[in-house]
Amino acid sequence: MITIAIDGYSSCGKSTMAKQLAKSVGYTYVDTGAMYRAVALYALRHGWINGGHVNKEALTAALDDIDVRQDKDGNTTLCGENVSAAIRTMEVSNSVSYVSAIPEVRSRLVALQRAMGSNGGVVMDGRDIGTVVFPNAELKVFVTASAEIRAQRRYDEMTAKGEKVDFNEVLENVKRRDYLDETRAESPLRKADDAIVLDNGSMTIEGQNAWLMEKFEEACRKG
Ligand code: DC
Repeated sequence: MITIAIDGYSSCGKSTMAKQLAKSVGYTYVDTGAMYRAVALYALRHGWINGGHVNKEALTAALDDIDVRQDKDGNTTLCGENVSAAIRTMEVSNSVSYVSAIPEVRSRLVALQRAMGSNGGVVMDGRDIGTVVFPNAELKVFVTASAEIRAQRRYDEMTAKGEKVDFNEVLENVKRRDYLDETRAESPLRKADDAIVLDNGSMTIEGQNAWLMEKFEEACRKG
């Protein structure tokens, strides 16, 4: 079984395609963004994030108590509570980049991610999977699409769930996260040299899935 790293910008459909591939080939899917979101939720609930400032000392000291897991049904749990819905709010989206920039948070979550993928057979999506978590992954995909297309997707997703959001606010959030993801000192978002780029701005979900399955089969033949 091989290891598959799917990295790229926020809201570019990484998780949809990664989840589908994992299901089709019987691998485990790991959404690493959800893990960073769960840590952000923990920090928010403790009042450690205010106006873009994180109480790093408190958060770092609590890391051993922040039990983040993903179960086989794809749910994210935080200290035993299913937080799959709670980590998708605008409040968490607006705070998560500050938390994911903290080196201690990253090293803790990277260790958990490596343990989850230690036997191969995983499809892991995130920002630094092909560059940091699994630099030797047999298949690396870097997904991208324009900020407007990605904001529209996220807006549609949120309104479908009944959340009242403003499109421009979602677009600003996407752009701000791109900027923070690309410019942070610790593991910034960048394409691994050996990753294949997928610009899915004008692709259907079925087209993407077929493309990824083809790359998977190629990687298995080589790997
Ligand atoms: O994929 P997402 O939007 O759910 O990710 C949430 C945030 O977590 C995003 O701002 C970037 C960060 N992240 C990260 O720094 N490293 C990862 N491997 C995954 C996500």
